[in-house]
Amino acid sequence: MKILGISAHYHDSAAAVVVDGLPICAVQEERLSRRKSDATFPLSAIEWCLEHAGIEADALDAVVFYERPMLKFDRILTCALRAFPRSRRAFPQAMKSSLGEKIWVRGIISSHLGVPGRKILFTEHHQSHAAAAFLTAPTRRAAILTTDGVGEWATLAIGHGERRPNGSTAITLLREIRFPHSLGMLYSTFTAYLGFAVNQDEYKVMGLAGYGRPTMVDKVRRVIRPTPDGAFELDLDYFEFHTTAERSYSSPFIDLFGPPRDSYEPIDLETEDGRRYADCAASVQRVLEDTLVEMTRALHRETGLPDLCLGGGVALNGVANARILAESGFERVFVPPAPGDAGCALGAALYADRIHFGNPDRDVPDHPFWGPRADGAELARVAREDGHLVDELDEGTLIDRTAEDLAAGRIIGWMDGALELGPRALGHRSILAAPHAAGMRDRLNRDIKYREVFRPFAPVVPVEAADKYFEMPPGGARLARFMSGVFPVRPEWRARLAAITHVDGTARLQALERDMEPRLHALLEAYGRRSGMPVLLNTSFNLADEPIVNRAVEGYSTFLRCGIDVLVAGHTRVTKRESR
Ligand SMILES: [Fe+2]
Repeated sequence: MKILGISAHYHDSAAAVVVDGLPICAVQEERLSRRKSDATFPLSAIEWCLEHAGIEADALDAVVFYERPMLKFDRILTCALRAFPRSRRAFPQAMKSSLGEKIWVRGIISSHLGVPGRKILFTEHHQSHAAAAFLTAPTRRAAILTTDGVGEWATLAIGHGERRPNGSTAITLLREIRFPHSLGMLYSTFTAYLGFAVNQDEYKVMGLAGYGRPTMVDKVRRVIRPTPDGAFELDLDYFEFHTTAERSYSSPFIDLFGPPRDSYEPIDLETEDGRRYADCAASVQRVLEDTLVEMTRALHRETGLPDLCLGGGVALNGVANARILAESGFERVFVPPAPGDAGCALGAALYADRIHFGNPDRDVPDHPFWGPRADGAELARVAREDGHLVDELDEGTLIDRTAEDLAAGRIIGWMDGALELGPRALGHRSILAAPHAAGMRDRLNRDIKYREVFRPFAPVVPVEAADKYFEMPPGGARLARFMSGVFPVRPEWRARLAAITHVDGTARLQALERDMEPRLHALLEAYGRRSGMPVLLNTSFNLADEPIVNRAVEGYSTFLRCGIDVLVAGHTRVTKRESR
């Protein structure tokens, strides 16, 4: 059975193909269109997926869209009517921009792909998140918690999943919290208030939180309150996201927290305002963590299960995930590489396969590499044409040369195999560098990533060596498989890992298993033999405000425009002409 999954029209569109129960490929539209967080209908992603899978559109058994457009329309209409007349400008705007497209999804899919309407299915948004989390994790029974900004109405869902010995699958979502009460919206409101881009820069708030103290927790608790049933509610006096598209926080919010930051104003932690922003970030981060820890503790008591699967964009919060692992009572916590809406394309396809069609259970391969492959020969061709120094090396020599480059302080653009699904570079589209000196972090921020100084860089380490350098609770290595947890760097190593140790002594590490990415694992070992430490700085291969590179030529173009010293794709190694 051949199923195409699609997510679109909110943020981060994507497509995925599942054949006979297993993913064949998946890719985010932004990686192909080269527009960051591209939310348009993912035509390029669909075309690539079908071509890669060798399937004509008319051979598809089903096309599954990751949410129910009419329910979403119902939510937006209801909120607009409730907020009338304040919403009188927001509603026509929402209708005009994306809502119109959202309602006519069936028609859009049908006309673009030539697929009859009866083959087009819809899952609920949080069912897609739940399926993306549970059906890709190596567990047969688990509690599930999904949380994001909003889908149709739900902003958080809890339940459990089971892959039964007879091959059938069940995903049961027991309860949900509904819009406008939303952890994702709470965090996004603070993201906007702190002058960052909503639905994109939430991780900057998490980075900034490391510089602050949670001095405003009491204030944050006035805008989000626990309810007697163990859930939470927002005090809507402080918010406007539910009534207008223009601003997410209200005047009382500003009275409570002070004037918002202008996005053009640099954050200077030496000033009173700068410290207030950092404290504000630390406070909302703390309240988010506490809320999730409370809810997952209750879920653990209720289900009695040892495993928990987390989904939804909030599951990208690695600090919260680490606290859930340490404090909820769950022994293992699984977060997929793409817990956000991009991963819903795959989630929706898997949900349709297992639940709608009732097809037999399959083990989904436990890796994030579902996109287009980088072609070393293509890189060699374009780099030679431009007169750069090109070496095509055998595997052993390439690994040794790259380890040598890294030990000499060179910055490597590293492309290998199939592109990752999700926002993390997990070893196939990475910028790699020595992790030891703080100067390397500053050089990367200044010459390559062109980004704020408070943003930390992440390390990658072979899973066997992770415990030596990082303090992980039992189960931490699983969370670190896809960089989903933030853990302390052991104090005795912080000085020698200065480029990847955040100001609060932590790091969002990737603990790499050889099986998942043998080449990078070999490179880490080779680097360890030279430097004494098999740890590298690993940041996504992109410049600020650009999507992660996909094809080798995009990596090449990025390489030419920034301070990367050496570019590797497959067995091709390129150095810049002037550095000959
Ligand atoms: Fe979502």
